[in-house]
Amino acid sequence: MDSNKWISLQELKDAIFDNQVIPMKYLYYTDEASRYWQEICKKPDYTFFMNSKILLKEVSEEIIAFLDETSGEFDIISLGIGNGIKITYLLESFCARMYRNNMIDFYPIEISPLMMKNALDYIHSKISIGKFNVVPVIGDFNFLKRFAFVYPHKKTSNLFVCLGNSIGNSSENLLMNAVKNVICPGDFFLVEINTDLESMGLFSESEINNLHNFSPLKLLGVEYENERIKYSLVENESVVRKTKSVLAEYGSAIIDGIEVKDIKLSIVHRYAKNEFCNYIKEFMGMEIVEEWSCSNVMLYLFKKS
Ligand SMILES: C[S@@+](CC[C@H](N)C(=O)[O-])C[C@H]1O[C@@H](n2cnc3c(N)ncnc32)[C@H](O)[C@@H]1O
Repeated sequence: MDSNKWISLQELKDAIFDNQVIPMKYLYYTDEASRYWQEICKKPDYTFFMNSKILLKEVSEEIIAFLDETSGEFDIISLGIGNGIKITYLLESFCARMYRNNMIDFYPIEISPLMMKNALDYIHSKISIGKFNVVPVIGDFNFLKRFAFVYPHKKTSNLFVCLGNSIGNSSENLLMNAVKNVICPGDFFLVEINTDLESMGLFSESEINNLHNFSPLKLLGVEYENERIKYSLVENESVVRKTKSVLAEYGSAIIDGIEVKDIKLSIVHRYAKNEFCNYIKEFMGMEIVEEWSCSNVMLYLFKKS
């Protein structure tokens, strides 16, 4: 814990005592938590991930072709690499189009060392080494600006990639400000959201999902009791209007000798499509280039004007 300066028990406790949703990095940071998430992604009933994989596989070639034709050379900065499966579709499409001998530099920024390792193993199992440069960065993507010297603006543009629930799980204002502060005119932002406003979606019955949500409390030595985890559909928890969110809470726990009730373990935002798009356009000063969807998944490519 102490070796990772982006993680602090004090920050975690402060969020809990302030009745804030626990910052998402604590949901993924430990090896155990990241393993839970990777297991969840293998479940066919996690339709958001399954549909998202289908979508990325389908449209990656189109995205890379568009960037190649309009922007020329670019580098990729990935915010939260996860298991690496989805970003691999983009990298494979890039490699398939590498007719000018240009290389991309690929900068995954990730809080979980195990997630990073597994993702890089996956990428290397699919793509031969030497087709692009990988510069892995273990760190907090909410502090993107601190890594700006790691990914200098060497090419015509940077493509920032934020897939899955990297936005939908996060303190959106932190992450969106972080991207806003580093994105330059001509850069692209590929972002994915969950648009399922109707159902809870998550398999709240599933213990592995509960264990994943509980991971931050395990760091504080709290004892796990499955029946203390509850889910509800809430509103007004997002910076984007008309968003509905699934909130996971833990009934009560003793932390530092104090009983805390209804600890907000995690949140998953479900966005209204137009509202999300308008938010990015207005807040980030971006224009939409293209959008794609597959059931409850929406993928947008924005360009900074
Ligand atoms: C919901 S997963 C999405 C993963 C991947 N983008 C996908 O679509 O499959 C979120 C990812 O972001 C990482 N992550 C969460 N908070 C982070 C933070 N503050 N800084 C860097 N990475 C973070 C997690 O470890 C995880 O890999």
